Amino acid sequence: MVIVMTPDATQEDVDAIVSLVGTAGGSAFVSRGVSRTIIGLVGDVAQFSTLNLSGMSGVADVIRVSTPYKLVSRENHPERSTVWVGGVPIGPGTVTLIAGPCAVETPQQTLEAAKMAKAAGATLLRGGAFKPRTSPYAFQGLGEDGLRILADVREETGLPVVTEVVDAHDVPLVASYADMLQVGTRNAQNFALLQAVGAAGKPVLLKRGMSSTIEEWLMAAEYIAQRGNLDIVLCERGIRTFETATRNTLDVSAVPVAQRLSHLPVVIDPSHSGGQRDLVLPLSRAAIAVGADGIIVDVHPQPDQALCDGPQALVNDDLSELARIMREFPPLLGRKAA
Ligand code: E4P
Ligand code: PEP
Repeated sequence: MVIVMTPDATQEDVDAIVSLVGTAGGSAFVSRGVSRTIIGLVGDVAQFSTLNLSGMSGVADVIRVSTPYKLVSRENHPERSTVWVGGVPIGPGTVTLIAGPCAVETPQQTLEAAKMAKAAGATLLRGGAFKPRTSPYAFQGLGEDGLRILADVREETGLPVVTEVVDAHDVPLVASYADMLQVGTRNAQNFALLQAVGAAGKPVLLKRGMSSTIEEWLMAAEYIAQRGNLDIVLCERGIRTFETATRNTLDVSAVPVAQRLSHLPVVIDPSHSGGQRDLVLPLSRAAIAVGADGIIVDVHPQPDQALCDGPQALVNDDLSELARIMREFPPLLGRKAA
C-alpha cells in the first residue's frame, strides 16, 4: 500500500501517519520527491484498511499497488520523473550526456577526459575512484585520492560528478564528494549497499545487474526508494547472453519497458554494453532513438594506456560525431540535449 501526500502536506502530517502505521504493527517508509512525498507501507494490508488513512490530514491518495515494487512503479506515479543532478535534469523532454573516464587515474588524465566530455556536449562527468574489478590483481581505483581529483575537475570544468560506490561503508565518504552515486552492475543486488545509498541523500544511478530481469532491477530500485530516496536513474548497460561478439548484449527494449513500468528516468551505457569503441556511437544513436533519457559514455585521452576498459573509450576523433548525435538526434524525438 502506498500513501501519496498532497503537495502542501506538512512534516507533522507525515509523522502522524508513520506513527499510526507503527501502532498497527507496520512500517512506513517515507520517500520525498521534488513535488510530492510518498509513504510506502509494509505490513498487514487488512490491518491498514481499518486505519482511515485517506481521511488523515495531508493525504491525497491511498493506493493498493499490485506490482511488487510500489514506490518506483508507474502505477503509483503516472507522470515520468525528472531527477536533478547538480542542476542538470535527467528525465522526459531531455537527453543528458554523462561522459568521462572509466577510471580516475591522474589529475591530468581526468581533466583532459572531462574537457573531451564537455566538448561532446556532456553536462555531467563520470569517473570511477572505486573500481569493481573482476580480478583482484587489476587496478582497483585511487579511492579517496580519486574523489579529490574529481572534485578538483568539477571545480575547473563546472561539471557535476557521477561516481561509483562499491561498499556500503564507503557511502558517506563517496557522498561527501559526489553529486550522484553510481551502483554498478556487479552490486545491483547488494541490498545493504542499495539501502545505504538510499539513505545518503544524493541522486543514484542504478545500473541493471548483468543477469537481472527488469523486475529484479526495479526491485533493486525499490530498496533505494524505500530508504527515502526517489531520485533514482535506471541505467541499462547490457546483459549476459549467449552472444560473445560483444562484451554484453545491449537490451534496447529494456528502455521502453522500464519506462512503462516505472516513473524513473532510464539511460543507456553504450560503452560497457558493447565493450568496443566502434560500437559506442552506433549504440548511442540507438539509445536516443529508443527513447533513453540519457547516455553515459567512457572517454579517454590515451585509451591504449588506460588502467581500465581502454578498448571501449571514445577518443578525440570521435567527439565531433558524439556532439553531432547530441545536437541532432534529440530534436528528432521532440527532446533537447540537457
Ligand atoms: C567498469 O568500469 C568495471 O570496473 C570494469 O568494466 C570491470 O572490468 P573487468 O572485468 O575487466 O574488471
Ligand atoms: C562503470 O560504469 O564504471 C562500471 C563499472 O560499469 P558496470 O557496472 O556497468 O560494469
